[in-house]
Amino acid sequence: MFSNEVEFIRHLYNAPVGKTVALHAPMFAGNEKRYLEECIDTTYVSSVGPFVDRFEKDMAAYTGAAAAVVTVNGTAALHLALLLAGVGYGDEVITQPLTFVATCNALNCIGATPTFVDVDMDTMGMSPAALLEWIENNTTTSPAGELIDKHTRKTIKAVVPMHTFGHPVRIDEIEMICRKYGLALVEDAAESIGSTFMGRHTGTFGLVGAMSFNGNKTISTGGGGMLLFNDTRLAAKAKHLSTQAKVPHRWEFVHDSAAFNYRMPNINAALGCAQLEQIDRFIADKRATAQAYSDFFAGNRYGISFMKEPPHSQSNYWLCAVKMPDRKTRDAFLEYTNDNGIMTRPIWELMNRLPMWSDAPAGPLPNCKLLADTIVNIPSGVRSAGAE
Ligand SMILES: Cc1ncc(COP(=O)(O)O)c(C=O)c1O
Repeated sequence: MFSNEVEFIRHLYNAPVGKTVALHAPMFAGNEKRYLEECIDTTYVSSVGPFVDRFEKDMAAYTGAAAAVVTVNGTAALHLALLLAGVGYGDEVITQPLTFVATCNALNCIGATPTFVDVDMDTMGMSPAALLEWIENNTTTSPAGELIDKHTRKTIKAVVPMHTFGHPVRIDEIEMICRKYGLALVEDAAESIGSTFMGRHTGTFGLVGAMSFNGNKTISTGGGGMLLFNDTRLAAKAKHLSTQAKVPHRWEFVHDSAAFNYRMPNINAALGCAQLEQIDRFIADKRATAQAYSDFFAGNRYGISFMKEPPHSQSNYWLCAVKMPDRKTRDAFLEYTNDNGIMTRPIWELMNRLPMWSDAPAGPLPNCKLLADTIVNIPSGVRSAGAE
């Protein structure tokens, strides 16, 4: 069972038997070494330097955001994003339980708690219908106009949808719901660089979007993250908060609020600049891989199907995903592929099944439960270093 699948993936990644096929290895095929050398030669290795400024400018241009602010990682970016959205200690934030744990850990940094709503089957991300239904059935409005959870009496401040594996959620509908109820929209776009919904880059629909450049992402800075803004004043505030809230002065150490050291070092930004130069090719390569998988799994062998990009969107196919008919087949597939040198991984455990958030408010979660049992990621890294 599954030997054809293993053979196909080996063929796709040109990997002979005995060589492990990674889930998503970084590809450094451009100016990475040259830019890193430049950092060392100039001694600009830390949190100030020309590559930091350039990476922010280049990323804003690439995504169409008014401004971008780099951070030390994506979790820090999310933490700052939530603070900028006005989320405070004891507040509630509506998100999806089918996400990487960092989404909820960022909330926890503030002492806020998640409320979970279901995902759509095709996007694997937040369902606008589930969001609306939960709000309509479980909230009331305070005299001050704030949305209150009727059961916990906590204030709901923000909504955090996540673009799972790079597939955009129905962000236009979610944005309209947030507008109607006065909720801040914070996009967890950690996985979706290069993914667009109706031609617009993910992470630019709400107040702020957070990205990750971790080693396993489409482009990597080693470790790193970024915030995207349509409002340049908010971006300036983010930069200030990420740099210990230091008031600019030639020598005095004056800081005007409690803040963070969340700056991305210049050496990481150097990698980012070199990687961003190659992103169009990376995404074309990944989309070709997705098409090859889509054709291969079209036969529906063992009831396995390939998860295609949702309507009205273009996905970066960060991690390709297949849906198994049931958990038993999923486990057998994971065991066989990993035993045979093909790295495959199940989708995350649902956040409401982890001990930290098992008591969090939640709507009905049938799609989350089904997907948690049946989705497996298969090797998705860039295959070709390109023309040298
Ligand atoms: C959905 C999601 N949110 C947040 C993060 C956090 O990013 P980082 O690992 O850079 O802190 C990641 C990635 O790791 C992620 O996949």
